[in-house]
Amino acid sequence: MSLRLKLFLLMAGITVFSTTGVTAVALWREVQRGQELLYREGAAMAQATASSAARWLRPDGAQPGAGEALTAVLGRLVEAAPLDRAWVVDRAGKVVACVSPTHEDCTPGPPTEFAPAESPVQALKRLIEPEGIVTGAPVLREGELVGAVRVDFSHEEVVGSARRLAWSSALVAGFWIVLGQAFAALLFAGIARPVQRVIDAAHALGREEDGRQLALPADQELRDLVGAFNAMSTRLKERRDENQRLIATLEKRVEDKTRDVLRADRLATLGGIAAGFAHELGNSLNVIRGYTAVVLRELPAEHPNKPDLEAVKRETHRAASLMERFLVFARSRTTLVTPQPLEPVLREAVEVVGPAAAQGHVRTSLEIEPGLPEVSADAELLRQAFLNLCVNAVQAMQPGGGTLAVRLFADRGAVVAEFRDSGPGIAAEALKHVFEPFFTTKANGTGLGLAIVRQAAETHGGTVEVESRPGQGALFRVRLPARAPATEAIA
Ligand SMILES: Nc1ncnc2c1ncn2[C@@H]1O[C@H](COP(=O)(O)OP(=O)(O)OP(=O)(O)O)[C@@H](O)[C@H]1O
Ligand SMILES: [Mg+2]
Repeated sequence: MSLRLKLFLLMAGITVFSTTGVTAVALWREVQRGQELLYREGAAMAQATASSAARWLRPDGAQPGAGEALTAVLGRLVEAAPLDRAWVVDRAGKVVACVSPTHEDCTPGPPTEFAPAESPVQALKRLIEPEGIVTGAPVLREGELVGAVRVDFSHEEVVGSARRLAWSSALVAGFWIVLGQAFAALLFAGIARPVQRVIDAAHALGREEDGRQLALPADQELRDLVGAFNAMSTRLKERRDENQRLIATLEKRVEDKTRDVLRADRLATLGGIAAGFAHELGNSLNVIRGYTAVVLRELPAEHPNKPDLEAVKRETHRAASLMERFLVFARSRTTLVTPQPLEPVLREAVEVVGPAAAQGHVRTSLEIEPGLPEVSADAELLRQAFLNLCVNAVQAMQPGGGTLAVRLFADRGAVVAEFRDSGPGIAAEALKHVFEPFFTTKANGTGLGLAIVRQAAETHGGTVEVESRPGQGALFRVRLPARAPATEAIA
């Protein structure tokens, strides 16, 4: 059932109940009063006729000709008043004269018999049943009861005024119902319009989630409803924006990763080919170096081509070691991972760089946190990586020297090897590329040192990061996942 219909029924119900209640009381009183008046009026009419009847009735019965004479009198009475019947009975109760326009029989009965007092309910019952009001007056002759005159008011006369009252009440009720409905329609429109607006907006919000806002109506309840809708709309829009942001980020990351994977794939192919070349070239260079060494040994010391041959040997050596370095980076060597402490590996790397550091006036320090967990590591690979970092630091501080502080410590489930130098630092632009293969700022550099460091860290499931600002030294941090401490075997 719609709200509109409910409101209509409510208004109609209230109007009908209130009007009916008032009308019923008024009606009841009117019926009672009207019937009392009719009783009295009937009695008075019968009384007036009783004096004429007294001439024709005796204690022993009616005189001859009484019937015709009294019928004429009663006829005049019936014409003058709204009566269904009028009749006269003698002392024995026999009907002497009867006038009945409705052709209803006149009821015989002793003159002493009068209508008993009526209850209020009987007065109302008469509204439904077609029953008139019978009243009368005794006929007295010389003080003696000789008969009675009876009159019967028509039913229409009894209920007429009550019916008129009922009709007018119904009219009044109808008027109020129409007025009430008009008022209810106005009221309903005031409520329904904002509610309809919220419904439409909710549909639109379900389609678009655009954070639409509705104007707040004046009524408190509707204001609360619209306020709740506005808050919900805002939240939905925020969520949608957040989701779109996340989707955009994810799409960007997928795109970047796809590009990285494709690049890595291409590089791996190129790396494979290059490694093959490097291997072959390395072999040839070693052969050239061997023959050059033999020729150099056999040439007399003062031979004019000896310095040229020495240059050939030196450059061949340089090219061969470059090839070797490249092969370390490019060759997919099987890593030999075993659980072990990092301390000896790091110590060895720092010791190896020691002579070069001393020569370049670099003071090295090594600080190791006690009780460090072990790491699953390929010692050779990591030693190479740590050595590259130390060599870079020493080289960066030339000429003039400086300090290289190496630390090993545990941090959030990882073992961290940190290399801090007091060199010139790295320019922001170079910082983005230092881990890329072949990026170098050195005349004789290969640009593979840091690429090997990153490869070694990632092979161990770790990371390498750099912090540096020009003029403030450089800091490299290799972070390797620590092994979980071994659980004690249950005996
Ligand atoms: N400690 C550092 N201080 C300043 N710059 C550094 C440092 N370490 C690396 N770099 C910069 O990063 C570049 C790349 O270093 P990487 O070790 O990969 O190659 P390289 O040292 O140039 O060559 P190679 O290692 O083959 O001798 C260096 O050329 C240098 O410019
Ligand atoms: Mg290097």
